[in-house]
Amino acid sequence: MCGIVGYVGEKQAAPILLDGLSKLEYRGYDSAGIAVFDGEKINMTKAKGRLKVLEELTHDGATLPGVVGVGHTRWATHGEPSDVNAHPHLNQKGTIAVVHNGIIENYLKLKKKLTGKGYKFVSDTDTEVIAHLLDYYYDGNPLRAITKVMHRMEGSYALGIIFKDYPDELYAVRKDSPLIVGNTEGGSIIASDVPAVLKYTRDVYFIENEEIVRMKKDSMEFFNVDEEAIEKESTHIEWDVDAAEKGGYEHFMLKEMYEQPKAIEDTFSPRIKGKDIVIEELGMSDEEIRAVKKIMIVACGSAYHAGMTGKYVLEGMARIPVEVDLASEFRYRDPILEEGTLVVVISQSGETADSLAALRESHARGAKVLGIVNVVGSSIAREADNVMYTWAGPEIAVATTKAYSCQLIALYLLALKFSKVRGQISDSELSQYIEDLKRIPDQVELLLNNKNKIQKFANRYVAARDVFFIGRGIDYAISLEGSLKLKEISYIHSEAYAAGELKHGTISLIEEGTLVTAVLTQEDLYKKMISNVVEVRTRGAFVLAVTNEGNDEIKRAADYVIYIPETNRFFTNSLAIIPLQLFGYYIAVGKGCDVDKPRNLAKSVTVE
Ligand code: G6P
Repeated sequence: MCGIVGYVGEKQAAPILLDGLSKLEYRGYDSAGIAVFDGEKINMTKAKGRLKVLEELTHDGATLPGVVGVGHTRWATHGEPSDVNAHPHLNQKGTIAVVHNGIIENYLKLKKKLTGKGYKFVSDTDTEVIAHLLDYYYDGNPLRAITKVMHRMEGSYALGIIFKDYPDELYAVRKDSPLIVGNTEGGSIIASDVPAVLKYTRDVYFIENEEIVRMKKDSMEFFNVDEEAIEKESTHIEWDVDAAEKGGYEHFMLKEMYEQPKAIEDTFSPRIKGKDIVIEELGMSDEEIRAVKKIMIVACGSAYHAGMTGKYVLEGMARIPVEVDLASEFRYRDPILEEGTLVVVISQSGETADSLAALRESHARGAKVLGIVNVVGSSIAREADNVMYTWAGPEIAVATTKAYSCQLIALYLLALKFSKVRGQISDSELSQYIEDLKRIPDQVELLLNNKNKIQKFANRYVAARDVFFIGRGIDYAISLEGSLKLKEISYIHSEAYAAGELKHGTISLIEEGTLVTAVLTQEDLYKKMISNVVEVRTRGAFVLAVTNEGNDEIKRAADYVIYIPETNRFFTNSLAIIPLQLFGYYIAVGKGCDVDKPRNLAKSVTVE
């Protein structure tokens, strides 16, 4: 996500802030800014685009003199990437400056309250609410103002804050968004990630949820939300810069897999209001939702696979006919978009050339387009009629993991909303689905923590020549993504088949020792799937099964079984994909492949 740096000390703050931000560039961002107190006033410079623009504008920090300040690289969430939406954000009087990572979920409510009290907003961000709210509660005591604001904010945040009245102090606080602080010679520094501080110190404090830090050039005090002082121990960082960028993980792909629980939660939680699903950005009234006759999902790569799962979920739960097409096919096939068709374009980058062309083709044919997009302000986000953002944060590994997982969540939310409005599910069913949704982050975490078992298994297959993935229904959609993960990073030939198709050709490829991964998460299809497993096994295949807890029968048919925790039949993809991601990853690692940058592939395919 975004990057935060803050400094208070004896040295000029701006060059340290710019240097720290440059170490966070790898995280991805669209704009940057710094604010420094010069002894009289807080001066601020912000710029859309690369950090280089900010460096040039500030003459490498020289135009912002002062020894206390905060800096930020922004990955847009609320509001387009622009100078004005870039951080820091100030209160109206310009006496408080804030940088923020995370999402304030109730910002609209808070904004309304503050607007009612006469506060004027200049940006579209959720962060500006924090600056004004701090101002509202500030009575000369920064710590008190911060704790009061904490009580009012819902969502996630890591904040760096400076107050004009306290020119030798820097404040930091966090909840569900990382933040570290450290002492350097003659100063204190905060950052959202280790690489930004490694040049200055290797001894850092990891701030825990709802902890507040007050820093001066030579002191550091920690408080809880009740303003009580607390003790903390520092941690010595041994990592080199390269490892630090990856948060200690060997690859960005592994790091991003581990970010899935949080990304999933960030994607559903702003859309769950009590016992209901509220998707404000859908821009559709209940009447319009009821009038939809067909959904046409268009996407490329993994986003297309997410769309395949979406088809099973939307059709099965909301009983709306859904067609899924590859954007590169859709755009040239003279598609029929009858009245009442809602086109859904799914894209992580929001820039994929074929997906964008498909969106324009749909518009030319008069259809309404909903984008499910990760990058705020991207072309697809701008051109779609409405956008439902996935809050995965920037993804660096070419092979998508967390963005794909968030796309699934967005589709579940859409299915739940449509099902409820169209009378396909009752209030109590919706409540149960919401409960299941809320359990997914912990369940994903559990599966991730099982990685050693999968690594061991993967090590046996690094020399595999062909791997087949089979499944039925939603499990076929999971198989498609599992197969793509494996082939794109390990260069092992793999294919996914609807299990019922095996007999129509593929089974002739099964030889002694061929690995077949069978996905069985749909209880009503267990028996059919077990027959398929037996068919390939009798022809010599080694079968890895991924199935629900409690499916004991498969143990007799398959060679190796991985169980996923219990959820409803529509959400199993979110769990079953985790072992498959890990499997592809560890095979690629075992083969010594360049996991994060596989040959011939690009993260964002902006040409045909
Ligand atoms: C590339 C990426 C895939 C991604 C696909 C679609 O092939 O490597 O991970 O699924 O493009 O990209 P999009 O940004 O539209 O989701």
